[in-house]
Amino acid sequence: MVITIRRATRSQIPEIVSYVMASRAKTFPGQDEAILPDLARFKETYIENPDGCFLTAHDEDGQIVAAIGYLAYEPRFPQLDLGHERVVEVVRLFVDPSWRRAGLASRLFAELTRHAHEAGIGRLYLHTHPHLPGAIRFWQRQGFAILDIQETTGWGTVVHMSRLSEAPLSASLEVDFVQNAGPPKLNGAFAANYQQIQSF
Ligand SMILES: CC(C)(COP(=O)(O)OP(=O)(O)OC[C@H]1O[C@@H](n2cnc3c(N)ncnc32)[C@H](O)[C@@H]1OP(=O)(O)O)[C@@H](O)C(=O)NCCC(=O)NCCS
Repeated sequence: MVITIRRATRSQIPEIVSYVMASRAKTFPGQDEAILPDLARFKETYIENPDGCFLTAHDEDGQIVAAIGYLAYEPRFPQLDLGHERVVEVVRLFVDPSWRRAGLASRLFAELTRHAHEAGIGRLYLHTHPHLPGAIRFWQRQGFAILDIQETTGWGTVVHMSRLSEAPLSASLEVDFVQNAGPPKLNGAFAANYQQIQSF
């Protein structure tokens, strides 16, 4: 099936906000369901701000099957040294379970890095969690290095990661992906991630 990657436009905002909030509720059950501040100000954060960008992937029916964005990094982790480059924070990466392990997140991230590079962004920052299957491994595969591991009360273990913003190889916005035949693979990723953290 051909999956098409699009940059968010104003008319898509309600659909994108619904998709992200629903995906987040499935990924982080029990979290506050109030619309997140960046989504409540989507236009200002991701469309009008030169340090913002949001991409969605659509199936052949036009339905969103994955999303990712970056926004201006707000310094709030004093233990991190992110240098003096222009830094953005990569956020809201979600791929529908039936599309996972098909290379879709990698493709979306490559497109996001293309936008970041063209916009003159110097560094990409993100944080993730060891309990998310495959997340740390995924980001390491995208060139991110672990900067710090933080224990928090609200979110448990938070893993801070970063990489320079570099030009990706060019690629088409329409890609023929093979959807998963079965349920998503949950391959003991927590244990694998935990081991990675221990060996860091
Ligand atoms: C993490 C997530 C975004 C990965 O999306 P995806 O489209 O399946 O990722 P890709 O197919 O591009 O994976 C690229 C590589 O990342 C690693 N990876 C991805 N998912 C993995 C998993 N569950 N277990 C182990 N490694 C994984 C693998 O090295 C994979 O390469 P391979 O399939 O050739 O082994 C997806 O599982 C997801 O949406 N999870 C829920 C939300 C989430 O955790 N978001 C990230 C928050 S920071």
